[in-house]
Amino acid sequence: MNIEKFIRPELVTMKGCVPIEPTEVLSQRTELPSNKIIKLDGNENPYGCSPKVYQALATYPYYHNYPDPEQMELRMALEKYTGLRRQHIVCGMGSDELIDLILRLFLKHGDEVINCPPTFGMYSFCADVCGGRVVDVPRTEAFTLDMAGVKKALNNRTKVIFVASPNNPTGGTVTEHEIMELVGTGKIVVVDEAYFEFSNVTMANLVPSYSNLIVLRTFSKWAGLAGLRIGYGIFPVEIAGYLMKIKQPYNANAAAQAAVLASLADIQYLHANVARIITERERLFGRLKELDWLKPYPSSGNFILCSLPKGKAKEIWQQLRRKGIFVRYFDTSGLKECLRISVGKPEDTNALVKALEEVKYD
Ligand SMILES: Cc1ncc(COP(=O)(O)O)c(C=O)c1O
Repeated sequence: MNIEKFIRPELVTMKGCVPIEPTEVLSQRTELPSNKIIKLDGNENPYGCSPKVYQALATYPYYHNYPDPEQMELRMALEKYTGLRRQHIVCGMGSDELIDLILRLFLKHGDEVINCPPTFGMYSFCADVCGGRVVDVPRTEAFTLDMAGVKKALNNRTKVIFVASPNNPTGGTVTEHEIMELVGTGKIVVVDEAYFEFSNVTMANLVPSYSNLIVLRTFSKWAGLAGLRIGYGIFPVEIAGYLMKIKQPYNANAAAQAAVLASLADIQYLHANVARIITERERLFGRLKELDWLKPYPSSGNFILCSLPKGKAKEIWQQLRRKGIFVRYFDTSGLKECLRISVGKPEDTNALVKALEEVKYD
């Protein structure tokens, strides 16, 4: 039986996303013990989550009940954290789910989504799955937004514009002026602030003043909860209402909710780790700059993009893997011969730099 004739044709030919793999899988693949793996490929938090999270998860008494579909405790805690009213806030199974939900809410088949590569892959992936048409407006050579290009690409089928700030993998932030210009186009503008805590640049306070501006955030990076899958968005109240209506009722699971509450009760601890990561980012940048075959780009996130003007990025990526050091390799049209290195602990930087110094570059 030909199953493909039942499948939406665009999904038969669609490229999937290339996700990263967890430590356990990398350990099996490389036959290295998991404590020998230096994982700098997922922009994860090398310090893990708050100890209060383990305590909260071990003692939470209601795993046998469905969690609150209204996410009320969570949204109240986020109201305090963001300074924005809970009516603006909706939580999702990672900000990934919110990207998907936003597109499901707005896209009819063939509607267009503006994507500014190189950038986070989930915007185009989710748009493809939702039957949207992805319109790429590549960034400039300095990886800033091509504002004129974005405006030129708009038409009456354009629904959503995605901008990551800091942008993954290039590390830069957008300006308020740029976002205001995009908001002025009347399209839905999504500013993805997954790395906000590392940059301190935010557009969140603007959301209540505009009916078409959305800011996404996550607990995966600064709070070290990537494995529990929990993020949130700050939406105009009207959009938040629609998202609450179309989301799966129990999308924020009980463990994730308990972990967020515990994290928000231990912000000082988490912010101290963020500060250590920022310090380490600058040290890593300095060390990478010393290598004459590698060009690191300044970053406001917890990662550093490096281009290799003389090529061989794939070979170097493989050489690092053989030593148990995992970074991200890119070879797309906008990112030829590039590696993205997540900021780890100081000892991770030391091991990485030593391995890079030993790289055979012939
Ligand atoms: C820009 C950006 N947005 C969103 C995400 C996904 O975050 P979450 O783990 O909350 O789904 C990532 C993860 O790497 C990211 O880089």
